[in-house]
Amino acid sequence: MNRVIALPIKLLSAALLLSVTALAAPRTLEQVKSSGTLKLGTEAAFPPFNFYEGKALMGFEVDLGNALGKALGLKVEWVVQPFDNLLITLNQGRFDAVMASHAITPVRQKAVDFLPPHYCSTVNIVAKVGGPLTKQMLAGKTVGTQVGTAQIPVLNAIPGIREVRTYPNDQTVLSALQAGRVDAWSSNGPVVAYMLKKTGQTGKILIGEAISDERNAGAVAKGNTALDDALSGALAGLLKDGTYAKISDRWFGQDIRCK
Ligand code: ARG
Repeated sequence: MNRVIALPIKLLSAALLLSVTALAAPRTLEQVKSSGTLKLGTEAAFPPFNFYEGKALMGFEVDLGNALGKALGLKVEWVVQPFDNLLITLNQGRFDAVMASHAITPVRQKAVDFLPPHYCSTVNIVAKVGGPLTKQMLAGKTVGTQVGTAQIPVLNAIPGIREVRTYPNDQTVLSALQAGRVDAWSSNGPVVAYMLKKTGQTGKILIGEAISDERNAGAVAKGNTALDDALSGALAGLLKDGTYAKISDRWFGQDIRCK
């Protein structure tokens, strides 16, 4: 290759490689502590757990994540990414831990290390009045759900479903349900309840049968043990000292910790 061209290309690939390596290493607890800032990843489209109201990031998991940082004496910086990217970029070190309502599943446990669950919930079937509200009624029907979620394999295992269609987030699934492009929607019960209320659809769209019970948890990159221990310890503290109960009550009027 012409040297004049080859040199810039070599420099460029070296720079690319450096930036990839820099991103490729999740930060250790020591590095997080000395920076003074804990970076938390979330999606910001899963109300009331993590969402935007205008430009403000808020929700149960945002309050809880901020409280975890505080307990460790760290500032919290939130990094917002599509749900589907979160576990990949967590392992690439884009942020230190994720708080986005991930269900603990064996498949995900191979990829990341989960903290103890910060709540338990069900995933439900949701449909317009007169639509399919049970697994049995899903025979021959199309169900919409968010891409990358734990309910996809659960839905695929329900006999007779015509199609499981994935959407970028729950807002787009709700729109598809309203427009009649899917017969049913599947998501976590508290999210559906909140979204139906916010959009004035309560009573027009109904929450049906639960298809799974989830333990929803934060996670750190695979093998990031010291950070895992620190965050798990901080979470145990919040569960014990009343902070968790207060945050849960603010968002749900009840304590949603796993029983
Ligand atoms: N609980 C489901 C799962 O684990 C959905 C979580 C979706 N979270 C989100 N921030 N959109 O896959």
